[in-house]
Parts: sequence; structure tokens; C-alpha cells
Amino acid sequence: MSQRPEDLRARAHLHATLGEPGSGRLRYAAAMHFQRRGQLSPEVLEVYRVCSADDSEDPAPLLAARGLSVDLPCPDAPPVVLAHLRDEIDRYLGTHFGPGIAETRALIAAWREMAGSLPPGRTNPVVDAWMEAALAELAPAMPSLAAAIGAAVPHLDWITYDLYPPDEIGPAFARGHAFATLVGEGAPFPAEEFDLGIFIVAPDVLYRDHHHPAPELYAPLTGPHGWRFGGAGPLTIKAAHVPVWNDPGTVHLTKVGPSPFLSLFAWTQDVTLPAQVFPAQDWAELEALRIET
Ligand SMILES: [Fe+2]
Repeated sequence: MSQRPEDLRARAHLHATLGEPGSGRLRYAAAMHFQRRGQLSPEVLEVYRVCSADDSEDPAPLLAARGLSVDLPCPDAPPVVLAHLRDEIDRYLGTHFGPGIAETRALIAAWREMAGSLPPGRTNPVVDAWMEAALAELAPAMPSLAAAIGAAVPHLDWITYDLYPPDEIGPAFARGHAFATLVGEGAPFPAEEFDLGIFIVAPDVLYRDHHHPAPELYAPLTGPHGWRFGGAGPLTIKAAHVPVWNDPGTVHLTKVGPSPFLSLFAWTQDVTLPAQVFPAQDWAELEALRIET
């Protein structure tokens, strides 16, 4: 389904609120738009023409009476919102280079079929506390991606991962992060051996050294934040929009800066094998550290 701005706008107009002054003509104009594109039949257009004279008249009963239907859902509908987010993520990744990006985009293209019944969205205290600030930071540079994430937030199943032993991963991370899978097992776009989603971590939190068999792409949308690879040594500070690729089994750590860490993530294989914490001696120091902007 097209996500071009003019089509999204026309679909919003096609579903303009009944009774709103001018809405009958707005619906009819939108129907003409889609008829010109070959997405709506002349018979359906005729129904919208008939109903356009009365702003309160819902075309749906007349369409049903004539055995007609329209498959142009309102842009607020979850399937449209989630497909738009997937396409915005793909477009964003298409503007970046580095290991794993082409592979991730190929997997996005391979798993485009949406689930028949969408899993319900689930709220999360970390998302409630920090998503707005993260999106406000993203929006000036990437307004369409920020809007797409914002619109999709209520329709995603946000999870705070609880399979790390709490004493190993530490309390700050254990309660200070959430992720939602957009493409993957049980996700709106079902996939096997591929997970793509959004990850958010509260400001200043340390995601301690860990590793997993899955190769992993992070595309951070906010920053700065600190990283290290290999389980020891100083942090490397990275800005927003600098993707990070972790080869299978590579030990990695993320220290969140003053902004909430909002990132796209992808696991491109071995997604069912769990992550493990990798012990290090300097976590207390890194947890106390504050990264400056
Ligand atoms: Fe990881």
C-alpha cells in the first residue's frame, strides 16, 4: 500500500469525520484521487459523489447496499501506521552505510507480509517516561522518522527484557530499558531468524558488557553515548546516527548519555539464542560516569 504523502493525506480525507462541514466534498475529492490512480472503481466513486452533498452521510451503508467495498484504511489504522514505520526505518537505513545495513534491508524486504491479526500494543513505564524526550531530540533532523515512531508507539508491544540474571545485568538496566519488535517472531510483520525493532534506554544507564550469538545492528537515533567492545578498556563516544555492528559473540557495552538512548536494532540470525552478561571490574565506575553533550 502506498505511503506517499499525497496518498496518506487522501486516505485521511477519505475518512474525514462525518458531520464536519465540508467533509462530504473532501471524501469525494479523495475518492476521485484514488479512482484516477486505479485504486477505486467508478461505481465506488459514484457512491462518494452521491454522499458528498450531505456532510453527515456515511458512504459505508450505500457501498454495502450496492455490494461494493474499499480497501483504503484510514492512515491512523494500526496496519498503516506500522507499515509506514517499517518503510521509514528502511528509508533511514538506506541513507547509511556500514556492515549489516544492506543485509538488514534485504531482510526487511523479504518479510513484508503483515500478520493477519496484529498483536495488541502494550505500554511500558520506560517508554512513558522517555520516548517523548527522545523523539523531540530526533525530530529536528529526521521529522518523518520521529513522527512514524511516535504514531506507532501505542501499537507496539513494549517489553522490558527479564532473562538476564538481575544481579549480573544490574538494577539500572533491568528496569531502565524497553524494546519493541516490529519484524520478527510474534511481531506485526512475522519473520524467522530476523528481528527488527526499536530500543530505548533511560539516560545515564549502563548496559553492561554482554554478548550473544546473534549478529546485531544498532542504528542510534539520539546521542551521544559511549561504547566498548571486547569487555575491557575505555569508552568510545559516538554521536547519533552512527550505526554500530556487533559480530556474533562480540562482547559489547553501551553507556547512555544525558539523552534517552533511542535506537533501531536488528538481529539478523540466531535470534532465539539468549544474550549473556560478560563480567568486568569497572561497572561501578562506568555506572557513576556522566557523558557530557
Ligand atoms: Fe547486543
